[in-house]
This record gives sequence, C-alpha cells and structure tokens, in this order.
Amino acid sequence: MTPRGLILAIESSCDETAAAVVERGARTLSSVVASQIATHARYGGVVPELASREHLRAIVPVVRAALAQAGCSLTELDAIAVTSGPGLAGALMVGITYAKALAFALDLPLIAVNHLEGHIHAVLLNEREQASRTQLGAPGLDSETWDTTAAQKPGAPGPDSGTWETTEANQRPPQTDEPALALVVSGGHTHLYLAQPASGAWTYRLIGRTVDDAAGEAFDKVAKLLGLGYPGGPWIDALALHGNPRAVPFAFSQVKTKAHLGGKPARTKAARTAPIAELDPHFLFSFSGIKTAVLRYVELNDLRPEAESRREALFTGPDAPARPTIEDALAQCDQQTLDLIASFQHAVVGDLMKKTFAAAESLGAARILVTGGVAANRELRARFTAEAAHRGLRIAFPTLALSTDNAAMIAAAAWPRFLAGDFAPSDLSADPSLALGR
Ligand code: KG4
Ligand code: ZN
Repeated sequence: MTPRGLILAIESSCDETAAAVVERGARTLSSVVASQIATHARYGGVVPELASREHLRAIVPVVRAALAQAGCSLTELDAIAVTSGPGLAGALMVGITYAKALAFALDLPLIAVNHLEGHIHAVLLNEREQASRTQLGAPGLDSETWDTTAAQKPGAPGPDSGTWETTEANQRPPQTDEPALALVVSGGHTHLYLAQPASGAWTYRLIGRTVDDAAGEAFDKVAKLLGLGYPGGPWIDALALHGNPRAVPFAFSQVKTKAHLGGKPARTKAARTAPIAELDPHFLFSFSGIKTAVLRYVELNDLRPEAESRREALFTGPDAPARPTIEDALAQCDQQTLDLIASFQHAVVGDLMKKTFAAAESLGAARILVTGGVAANRELRARFTAEAAHRGLRIAFPTLALSTDNAAMIAAAAWPRFLAGDFAPSDLSADPSLALGR
C-alpha cells in the first residue's frame, strides 16, 4: 500500500499549543490551535512557567482533536514533526517530549523543524493548496522538483513520481519552488531571509534582522502602555483604522550596527538566531526606539492616567467586560490616542516595507513572502501588496489562520525533510535560540 505521506506536527514554542495533520506537505487535513491568550492577558505578556503548564494541559486533547478532525488514526501516520526552536525552553520541551514519545511508540521517524522555517512554509503550504486545486488530477507538487532519492530509507515512503503525469497544466513549475525573499515578522522575530529550493530541501540565507525588539514585540509593548489587550497587534490593527496615520511623525533612523555593537552580541531575545555583524545595515531593523518615542509622546501629552483608566475599564476593573471587544476599546479611546496608534502602526509598516523592498531590489528577488503574526496586519498587507504591484514583484501572505502560530506550517516544513530522510536523533532537545540559515 502506498503511504499517504501523512505528517502529524506539534508546535509549542510560545503561547499556542498546536497540532496538525498535513498530507505530503500540501494538503491540510486538520489544524488545531489552543491559545493561551486568556492565561497571559492579565500579565500583558507571556509568562514562561504558565506557558509550559498550559502546554502540558493542552497537548493530549489538541493532538487527539487534530487526528479526529483529519479522520485518521495514529497508525496511518508516516512521521511526527515538532518545533525544536527557537522559543521558550520549557514550552518547547513539552512538544518535543510528547513528539518523541509518539515517534518511539509508533516506530515513526521524528522530524525537527525550526519555527521560523515553519512560518515561511505557511505561505508555501497555502500556495501548494491553491496550486493543487487548480491543477486537478496532479497527485502532488513534490515529486516534480524535490530530490527524493534519500526517501527510500526505511520508514520513508517513496516519491509518488510513478503516478505523476506530465500534462500541460503541471509542466509549469509550481510557484512554490521559486526563490523568494521572506520577511518573518512576529512577536519574537523580524528577520529577512532569501529562501531557495535546493535539490529537495530549502536553504535560507539571512539578509537582515532586528538588532533589538521584534516588530510584534513593539505592537505588544505599545498596546500594553496604552492600556490595551494582549497580544497588542490585533487591537492596534483594528483601532488604527479610526486614527490619522500622519498625526504623529515617527521616524526611523539608519541602524548603525558596527558602531553600536563593535563585536558584542545583539541585545535581543533571539540573539543567537543570527549574527548581525556581516549584514548590510540597510536591512537591519530596530523597534526599541519607536517604543520609547511612543512612551515619550504619552508622557509629554499626559496620556498615562487615561491609559490606566482604559485598562481598568476594559480588563482589570470590577465592571470590565468578560471579553472586551474592539468597540469597547474604541469607546475608551479619544481621537488623540487613536491618532497615536495609527501613526505608530503606519511608521512600523513603513519601515518594514522600506527595508524589505530595498533588500528585494538589491538581491533581484522576483517575489516576496511576508509571514508571522504581524503579517495578519491589514495596513501591512494593503501597503505591501500595493508596493509590490507598483514594482512588478509578486507577493504572498499566509491566510490569517496560518499567519500566527500553528502546526500545519510545521508539518509543511517537515515534508521536504521527510523526503530527504533528514530525521532527528532520539535525544533531540529544545534549542531556545535555534538559528535558521546563515
Ligand atoms: O507568529 P506569532 O503568532 O508568534 C510568534 O512567533 O511570535 O506572532 C505573534 C505576534 C504578536 O506580537 C502579535 O501582537 C502580533 O504577532 N500580531 C499582530 C497582528 N496579529 C498578531 N501584529 C499586528 N497586527 C495584527 N493584526
Ligand atoms: Zn511564530
């Protein structure tokens, strides 16, 4: 019997426990995400100890739900994939330990996936799903381009090239196999990679990154400062629609890495995910300055008491609604605050655009992928799309559900590794600052 190429993936790197079953890296059979937002919201950020505890609680029901939704049993699986880093050590360990136990008990290969690679594959998964919908009759998108020789190892199914038919429709290489400049923009990362398919696997070259806060972190910190909810991105995204983005002229200055860092490691959560010394400073991001600029604006304009009463009205006070909505938040914001929010978002999106398009031009990249939680942002999508059209570049984003953390993207990233027989050792451990590419 031909294996179906079913990978069960588990993701637990931060504050979402997720499991998914994806067929051949190209068809999502299920994707279940248990969010811990309610647990962390009252602290205004993720509390690592609470995250590990919540993952422990959720992992069994989430995996069961993913299998049930996919309509498959454990015995039908061909591999188990898991996020091995970067992320919170304790949180990662829950997923890794569970995945290792499953792989061992079922005698299946275990595949370790870098979370950032997962975010990039979220877009590729969408594209493969779209392509397979339009290429009716095509059995899969992998057999044509991926080197599958290593897949003949025990436990790995062979490629389905035997059933691949060369028709006019599928002679055109799937879009997913073209190099792309990928902006991964989330709560922990703001990284630019040149992603290239290379004989079966994908390779990643680091082009740029933040030297301090991630863009999503800036959204979260500004939202917290203004008495809004956690995570901050969705609140700012929705409230920004009601403000004037040009009211407060925030500016980003050029990051001067060499002068600042002089060989010292970058001051960032994900310091080891990539060295910055050799990167072109034009493609480096810094979001701690704008966070401070917002703080200064709040203090100069005496907006702190208002932010405190907003926090009380929405979250901490005795009359706070159980689930505050955007309308509740809107009722608590005056025009000055809405203008501040819109201006902050406009500036962050503008900076992300400026550096991403400059990098695309310098590398001659024909297409751009934008992924990670912040890629859900409406202004970001609209402005990136317009600029790409203006420059004649192709651009792709994941669906909203695949923008934030999920396990389908981990299963998608695991598929080429599965075909290449690139399996994790049985002593796989969490690597909180796992690097992607060089
Ligand atoms: O990818 P993700 O779910 O987790 C990490 O890998 O970090 O990203 C979470 C981040 C948070 O900082 C959150 O505020 C931000 O993505 N985010 C957004 C939006 N939705 C989520 N930022 C801006 N606009 C949004 N609509
Ligand atoms: Zn993420």
